[in-house]
Amino acid sequence: MYNIILIGFMGCGKSSLGCRLSYQHQLPFIDTDKYIEQQQKQTVAEIFAQAGEPYFRQLETEALEQLCCHKVKTIIAVGGGLPMRAENRRLLHKLGCVIYLRASAEILYDRLQHDTTRPLLQGTNPKQTIIDLLAQRAAIYEKTADIVIEVDGYNGEQIATQIWEAIEQYEPISD
Ligand code: S3P
Repeated sequence: MYNIILIGFMGCGKSSLGCRLSYQHQLPFIDTDKYIEQQQKQTVAEIFAQAGEPYFRQLETEALEQLCCHKVKTIIAVGGGLPMRAENRRLLHKLGCVIYLRASAEILYDRLQHDTTRPLLQGTNPKQTIIDLLAQRAAIYEKTADIVIEVDGYNGEQIATQIWEAIEQYEPISD
């Protein structure tokens, strides 16, 4: 049973595309940030502020472990930092087909410049933070992905179609 997992930087469209695909293909959708918020009864920003980022990262790993027990094919969007842990990458591959939504720093800044919900972007120079974080993370997103989908220049409908076509052609290589 293969889940469909969307990874990528904050603002690349994982949650909105996950919702769209869920609606179009009648599959359940889980966003790990929302999943954690519901379990903790706190927002991600509150968890960062009160318990710190390492604690949030631990909750992300626990969320993936719990999702591995789900038996229904699901579309899963994960937080932008989640694939940075090797343990999480192992769990992502156990869960299913990993799709990286690749967006440029320019597009991401455009979408995120007024955001107040993401703790990592509340410093004085969010543009530089996006550039630096993306530079650190891009290679990890690439190596984690089974499929890479370009975001820049496409609307949600076009990206959703590209994702679905790529999934239909995707054949997992068993080891
Ligand atoms: C984070 C991304 C956020 C959220 C948290 C940390 C990150 O999720 O998990 O603010 O480290 O990139 P989105 O990618 O859904 O914004």
